[in-house]
Amino acid sequence: MSPEWDRIIAAARRAQATADGPWCGYIYDLEILRKHVSRLVATLPANCDLFYAIKANSDYPILDTLAPLVAGFEIASGGELAWVRTCFPHLPVIFGGPGKTDAELDQALKASLEYIHVESMGELMRLGLLARQHDLSQAILLRINLPLGQAHDVPLAMGGRATPFGIDAALLPECLQLLESFPELRLEGVHFHLMSGQLDAAVHLGLLEHYFRTLEGWERTHGLSVRHVNVGGGIGVNYRNPGQPFDWPGFTDGLHELIDRMDLSKWRIRFEIGRYLTASCGAYAMEVLDIKRCFGRTFVVGRGGTHHFRTPYAQGHSHPFFVLPIDRWSRPYPRLAANDEPVTVVGQLCTPKDVLATDISVDQVRLGDLLIFTLAGAYAWHISHHDFLRHPHPEQIFLSIQECLNVAAE
Ligand SMILES: Cc1ncc(COP(=O)(O)O)c(C=O)c1O
Repeated sequence: MSPEWDRIIAAARRAQATADGPWCGYIYDLEILRKHVSRLVATLPANCDLFYAIKANSDYPILDTLAPLVAGFEIASGGELAWVRTCFPHLPVIFGGPGKTDAELDQALKASLEYIHVESMGELMRLGLLARQHDLSQAILLRINLPLGQAHDVPLAMGGRATPFGIDAALLPECLQLLESFPELRLEGVHFHLMSGQLDAAVHLGLLEHYFRTLEGWERTHGLSVRHVNVGGGIGVNYRNPGQPFDWPGFTDGLHELIDRMDLSKWRIRFEIGRYLTASCGAYAMEVLDIKRCFGRTFVVGRGGTHHFRTPYAQGHSHPFFVLPIDRWSRPYPRLAANDEPVTVVGQLCTPKDVLATDISVDQVRLGDLLIFTLAGAYAWHISHHDFLRHPHPEQIFLSIQECLNVAAE
């Protein structure tokens, strides 16, 4: 375990030792986040910008750590827009996502956003009419859904097939025609976000090349003049095999080469990544409440569950975790344990779906030990159904950069 994990472990031990009852919580290490994202930004080609898709985790300390590092934030609702504008009034913001209401479009027009990503012909028309009504002009990108080959099968497909996201590429001529009736809207580029969860850097690079070639074709056939290409997010986190992460260095080397080979310095290429930026800085910790055997399977029941940490259920995997042994034990009953056997980790909910990991071998786990789930900083607390069963919410601990540097210096 790296020294960075020592900080998270120490914080979990401290929090549990001082808790009133069985403890669970999220711990985020902002120094891990700062280092990781600084490295990503430093390796991108000069004409590329990294935006953070805040849907992955929009907690203030996370955004505050990222704000000086990234080119801006990508938001997907009026709520996210209000939050970002309150906390970071001057940061560039781009607004995507389906089903924008008139009120949200109105709010966006008045907030001087850098770009609104238009998701449909209907949205284009509503945005144009609202801009006219307010006598405002707005720069937009069109979000396009394209046919893709089989090589691009991933867990979360947002395009390449029938989905509610973006405008079918076949409708582009019609869409451009509609746009001519709205001089208030300035088309400055195209947006693609066709998938999430991509673990193969070469396949992802191939996808980007497909976007670029398609766009060059449209420049020729439709006379499009594009300044920006938004290639979305979608870089995966390898929950099933954390030792084999997405090959970011290989990806960025390939991207430099692709940009040179296709002479793409004419465009600004924008990424709006969520999961890959914040997943690794967070952990979810649960105290073991019960250990029981049923029909040949050993269940470890933790404080909390998928109502706090829905990621494993949402992604359909056994989430990686380790057991943090807690030696203190003062309860007046025997300390149950599972030794050298596969365990299934569940939470406190009354549903068989409340499973975080299935049949994972552990050396030992006892009542009162902590289970630390890694890679829990993205699409974790923020996608969970917090109030199902009205259990207490987990503690939220943010290890500040200064705190982390002090520990490192000790
Ligand atoms: C339009 C859009 N952009 C960016 C993202 C971020 O994707 P990821 O977290 O996979 O990088 C999403 C995620 O759903 C999205 O819908």
